[in-house]
Amino acid sequence: MAEQVLEQVLGPAEIIAAMVAPEGRQNPYPFYEALRAHGNLLHVKPGLVVVVGYAECTRVLRDGRLEVQDDKNYDQIYPDWRSHSSLRGFTNSMLYTNPPDHGRMRRLVTSALTPRQVSGLRPTVERMSDKLLDRLAELGAGGAPVDLMAEFAFRLPVAVISELLGVPEDKQVWFRQVAADVMIALEGLTKPEELAIADRAMDDLAAYLNELIERRSAEPSDDLLSRLVQARDDDGDRLTHDELMGNLMLLLNAGFDTTTHLIGHGVLQALERPDFADRLRDEPGFPVGYVEETLRFEPPVQATSRWAPADVTIMDMEIPADTKLVVIMGAGNRDPLRFPEPDRFDPDRPDIQPLTFAAGIHYCVGAPLARMEAQIALPKLLRRFPHLAVAGEPSFRDRWLVRGHDYVPVTLG
Ligand code: HEM
Repeated sequence: MAEQVLEQVLGPAEIIAAMVAPEGRQNPYPFYEALRAHGNLLHVKPGLVVVVGYAECTRVLRDGRLEVQDDKNYDQIYPDWRSHSSLRGFTNSMLYTNPPDHGRMRRLVTSALTPRQVSGLRPTVERMSDKLLDRLAELGAGGAPVDLMAEFAFRLPVAVISELLGVPEDKQVWFRQVAADVMIALEGLTKPEELAIADRAMDDLAAYLNELIERRSAEPSDDLLSRLVQARDDDGDRLTHDELMGNLMLLLNAGFDTTTHLIGHGVLQALERPDFADRLRDEPGFPVGYVEETLRFEPPVQATSRWAPADVTIMDMEIPADTKLVVIMGAGNRDPLRFPEPDRFDPDRPDIQPLTFAAGIHYCVGAPLARMEAQIALPKLLRRFPHLAVAGEPSFRDRWLVRGHDYVPVTLG
């Protein structure tokens, strides 16, 4: 077993270095198992704890004594961070904000994205899927290979989030590259030249969003962006301009880069297992468990982190102040204590509850939307093209944090 070799030869710090290197980026799971052999909650070095167990990840994510990395924390670890617009952009969002401001921002954003509004989007998602499938049929006519990621898995979530925010169709393809570049900033171990790419993308995106905000302020319509611009909570607070920008960046990027990969992973599993493809086409209710298992098996976001502002004890481990805890949901989702035969893709597992959308106060705002998109898109795609087949080697993105394919050639049959 590769992980046994890894575990014997390498210590936790070396396993982590290999995990984020190109080989690990292609398949991080053996590296997670090698880490697990050292412990589910693992002191890697002073200031760094890594969490790979399901129960441990849940506990850390729900622990109110821990914080997300916000601007005061960035000041401490990376004094130069303010010179990077990509880092500045995200720190104004709720994902990089702690209570009490976090609650205010989250309430304002969720008031404009309620479960009722999300379920009201179902007909829109169905209509958009059908339109994209028509387009796919044209592109793949006569057996021409098409890239499933660029032409479908990416286009559906970007169309949905763009509809929500009122972004016109001609900007949507541009978003793919910009969003991917911006997300580089979140990788954590980013090299300066990569951060420069993220900064440029953030500047372009900010300029565009500024334009959009100005337009909506002058002429509000019924979209999510107009509601965010107007959003006020009970105390009469509203989002400041920087907070609005930060949260828009987050919604846009979190809203489709991740869902794209959920759809990509889901299609590829089904193409490897024709019995699952048949059930996705024909069995009512099957897509729900199938999407949960896809989320568990290949989480588009592999990890997140928390910060201990003061000494804490978690599950008998004493964690000194200023320790960073890297919570690897991709590893927790394969914890054999929680999931028997974790490396087997099994949509019939009972009670899946993957860690993929995190837990606690930062639990993903868009989880119901992402689930709905995948539950609609996968059966529709497979019904429309019953002979869909992979037509070449799919390639994984060379990234660890946001895991997915950048290219999946298929023929429609
Ligand atoms: C498969 C798709 C998705 C995955 C895997 C995903 C994953 C995550 C994760 C792991 C977090 C929490 C990170 C942490 O606690 O540190 C999160 C937060 C968030 N997600 Fe998602 N997400 C997805 C789709 C979406 C969509 C479609 C939207 C928007 C429409 C969205 C908006 C957000 C927002 C606003 C937060 C911040 C919540 C907070 O800080 O309180 N996500 N997401």
